[in-house]
Amino acid sequence: MNQHHVSKAQESAASFPVEKIRAMFPAIRQAGDFIFMDNAAGAQIPQSVLDAVTSHLVRHNVQRGGRYGRSVAVDQSVAEARESVALLINAYSPSEICFGMNATSFIRLVSLGIGQMLSQRDEIVVTDMDHDANIATWLALEQAGARFKWWRMREDGNLHVDDLKPLMSDRTRLVACTVTAHSIGSIVDVASVAKIAHAAGAEAFLDCVHYGPHGLIDVQAWDCDYLVCSGYKNFSPHMGFLWGRFETLKRLPTFREDFIPDEPPYKVEAGTFIYENVSGMDAAVRYLESVGRNFLAENNRSRRENIVAGMSAIRDYELMLAREMMKVLKDCGATIYGVADEARIHERVPTFCFNIGTLSPQRIVEEMAAMQIGIRDGHMYAPRLMKRLNLSMDSGAIRASLVHYNTVEEVHRFGEALRAIIAMLS
Ligand SMILES: Cc1ncc(COP(=O)(O)O)c(C=O)c1O
Repeated sequence: MNQHHVSKAQESAASFPVEKIRAMFPAIRQAGDFIFMDNAAGAQIPQSVLDAVTSHLVRHNVQRGGRYGRSVAVDQSVAEARESVALLINAYSPSEICFGMNATSFIRLVSLGIGQMLSQRDEIVVTDMDHDANIATWLALEQAGARFKWWRMREDGNLHVDDLKPLMSDRTRLVACTVTAHSIGSIVDVASVAKIAHAAGAEAFLDCVHYGPHGLIDVQAWDCDYLVCSGYKNFSPHMGFLWGRFETLKRLPTFREDFIPDEPPYKVEAGTFIYENVSGMDAAVRYLESVGRNFLAENNRSRRENIVAGMSAIRDYELMLAREMMKVLKDCGATIYGVADEARIHERVPTFCFNIGTLSPQRIVEEMAAMQIGIRDGHMYAPRLMKRLNLSMDSGAIRASLVHYNTVEEVHRFGEALRAIIAMLS
């Protein structure tokens, strides 16, 4: 980032309407003193999302595919949600968007399909920085004859594409990696990952669960092949979605009953998914567009342009939160895992994993809870990363994860609480 970009980003962060945004989240309005800093495990939802869920349940809580008005309305709302999510991630077409339970079940579904198509290309690249949902699922293909190459995080807390290149060969079938580490917040250069994978004749599977709420997703610019997200990290209720290129999904073997067309998205969506939560996801995309409208002068921008503006404003604001949080943690003498150098702040989101000397993460988090601050301790579902960081699976580390409805005041209150707890436990 050059100086011009830095000052524009700082200006945008200063004008971010955080109080107006907080007022849109009923859970935050009702929370009193409580601070939501466990957002990596699930975010709060705006009133408009709640309204969409309620409206579905009250106005057309019936099965789709019928000829009567309520049922037709369900088909319509699912189609609208596909369109919204396609805009959110810049898919080539809404038919590439598949709805379901969560990210893990989609990773499993894709991996089972790929397991049936391995032949000569039997190598899969996995990383030691990912959530285990995007590692163990692939490792389970060993039974199908897959072999694995490990793309390892460097000591500086990120994956480097230069380390990926030597792992590729004419046997590589797929590179499975995260867009952003849910545990330590490092952002991966996924456009380069896809380029390297394609140059070797392989595909790129991206776990976008953690990046989703923090920045602009663009599957066309990234040129990836598959991408998964969890709605519940994206200001929507519990649901997940999978994106894949239409032709790629068309080739993927999936389980489906004979009467289901062998075409995406239907061939991927076995059974009934949770329509009301899909309506909620639609409303969550519209919420992000509304954030963008605050930053655009003209009212007749396209929906995607509003999303681009919204996510870029969120990114600038979160960088400011990340800078503040890094300062507070350093002042408290924390060991920050992952990117801890302020000059590299743009390589991270405001998800911080840390320890305070040898103090018990569990005790610190319990004391934080007593002070009305919700953070998390443990292994973060990242056993390989814990091993890399020399942390035990039992105690692990502490994670504080912020999103755009958090404030600098909350970061400061977190810092004061941490200082008091350290004094008490030392
Ligand atoms: C990066 C990442 N990948 C995958 C998952 C699993 O997502 P889901 O609960 O939707 O299966 C999570 C959940 O925390 C995550 O953070």
